[in-house]
Amino acid sequence: MNAWFGSHLNTIGKTKILVFKSFKIIMSIDYRPAKEDDAQGISNVFAEAMDDLYMKRGLLETPTNPTPPNPIFSFLIRKTPHAFWVAEDKGRVVGFSDSFVRGSVWFLSWLFISPPYQGRGIGKNLLERTLQSWNGVEITNRATITFSINPTSQSLYMRYGMYAREPLYYVSGPKGVIIDTVQPQTSLNFDELRSLEDATRTFKRFDEDVLGFSLDWHHEYFFQSKYKCFLFSRNRDEPVGYAYVRPSGGIGPMAVISEEFTEPVLETALRISASQNINEVGYYTPGSNVAAIKTALKFRMKFDPFVFMSTKPFGKWTNYIFHSAALM
Ligand SMILES: CC(C)(COP(=O)(O)OP(=O)(O)OC[C@H]1O[C@@H](n2cnc3c(N)ncnc32)[C@H](O)[C@@H]1OP(=O)(O)O)[C@@H](O)C(=O)NCCC(=O)NCCS
Repeated sequence: MNAWFGSHLNTIGKTKILVFKSFKIIMSIDYRPAKEDDAQGISNVFAEAMDDLYMKRGLLETPTNPTPPNPIFSFLIRKTPHAFWVAEDKGRVVGFSDSFVRGSVWFLSWLFISPPYQGRGIGKNLLERTLQSWNGVEITNRATITFSINPTSQSLYMRYGMYAREPLYYVSGPKGVIIDTVQPQTSLNFDELRSLEDATRTFKRFDEDVLGFSLDWHHEYFFQSKYKCFLFSRNRDEPVGYAYVRPSGGIGPMAVISEEFTEPVLETALRISASQNINEVGYYTPGSNVAAIKTALKFRMKFDPFVFMSTKPFGKWTNYIFHSAALM
């Protein structure tokens, strides 16, 4: 579970409706830009909202541990301070939103509301705020990734002109299955890039080819988080793609110049990951990335469904593995 990176009023009886109504009357929500010391409150809302969603669908396996907060929250508050918003009730964070712009694509990276506060317009308000934070910046497309098991988020995003364009799956499984399988022959070489400047410069053209823009400071987050970063080449000096391998076992982002390289690059990255001191490996694959789906099936991984939504279609999804729902 917790694939996003990874006590609610479900049955409304008479008494519960009364509680619900009186709760609504006393609720007074304030909105403000997030500060770094909101990270724990933000992490709590994320865990509550995600676990509630999975629990309602009967899919909750392990509750999300919100402590310590994932460092991605503080990183994004620093990078997009004007676009990271929180909603609070009497000083307690009850919802948050954030977005970034790459090229002319606006990407909604987070929108989570604490379960007892859902359905009261807070999500819409936070979405508006993080969208308007980019007023004056040229935006020609809007995009986001959400849970395919959540009709509320999908209908909200469709109202903002973002439509379902691509199924996504977070696939994961025990590393042992990979270790026990013989790797097919590959003629690709790979080198580890140890400098952020090298990676950002070298990967720009892959990102631009596959996504239409550079991932830019995302690479800074990957290096800061101690991901290993590999450049794959054909005939020793002809680069064909890159892949990040995380200390936690995850792969991504990964981009290749042609879909014929997806399988060998992904499988090599999975093997590098499986050689670490971890239990599970996983990655976010587009549904139309058939080579990556076949790799997941080959290693008997579990599938957790998401959906990529955007105003206009973009992306060569057969050539890409996402980092996460938050950072693309
Ligand atoms: C999705 C989420 C962010 C929405 O925030 P929220 O505060 O609950 O939503 P709002 O009250 O602002 O608006 C929801 C709207 O969707 C509508 N809606 C809900 N379910 C719907 C459905 N199945 N079809 C059509 N509309 C629907 C509601 O009626 C409401 O519109 P209205 O105010 O015009 O009636 C929040 O519910 C949440 O955190 N969910 C769990 C985590 C999640 O999925 N986050 C999104 C990840 S990207």
